[in-house]
Amino acid sequence: MTGPEEPDNLTSMESATETIKRIFEGSTSPVGAQIADESTRYKALEHAVCPKPAQTRLIAVANQKGGVGKTTSAVNLSAALARFGCKVLLIDMDPQGNASTALGAPHASGQPSVYDVIEGRKRIAEVKCTCPDFDNLDVVPASIDLSGAELLRSPTWRIATRC
Ligand SMILES: Nc1ncnc2c1ncn2[C@@H]1O[C@H](COP(=O)(O)OP(=O)(O)OP(=O)(O)O)[C@@H](O)[C@H]1O
Ligand SMILES: [Mg+2]
Repeated sequence: MTGPEEPDNLTSMESATETIKRIFEGSTSPVGAQIADESTRYKALEHAVCPKPAQTRLIAVANQKGGVGKTTSAVNLSAALARFGCKVLLIDMDPQGNASTALGAPHASGQPSVYDVIEGRKRIAEVKCTCPDFDNLDVVPASIDLSGAELLRSPTWRIATRC
């Protein structure tokens, strides 16, 4: 039997977002304020609209500097677009294969990867795999084998092999 102070149904319960907002909104704690701000922005994203482009778009995420968020940006952009219903293909071009790891694409050395595509042994359709979290997000994985391709194509290597 339901007690008089218990809610009739779950809709009257406070959501996690509302709880965080109630605790931290207006807080003088920088961390608390940031949590409240991010929580509000996540909530707003639930209602965001993302129209699909008229034709396929190619987006390159590249920067010579290390550790500046290239992989994080590529992975999150891909997942966000897939969540909005776009058909996405992420091509991992980094031998570290961190984007492949993040999106659940197997990329051990020797497994089919972007390296085989660059070398002309396989087509993209043969090496891509589907992200376990999104049916419409495919990944062309990269493995450490790709570092060999970088070496073979570097000007230093070409000069060395001419000597
Ligand atoms: N917007 C962000 N805010 C805070 N930290 C971030 C942000 N984006 C990325 N990071 C963090 O910065 C670090 C480097 O990010 P990431 O691996 O994406 O960089 P990268 O440019 O791909 O690095 P690398 O050159 O080694 O491939 C990671 O620990 C990641 O969690
Ligand atoms: Mg990276």
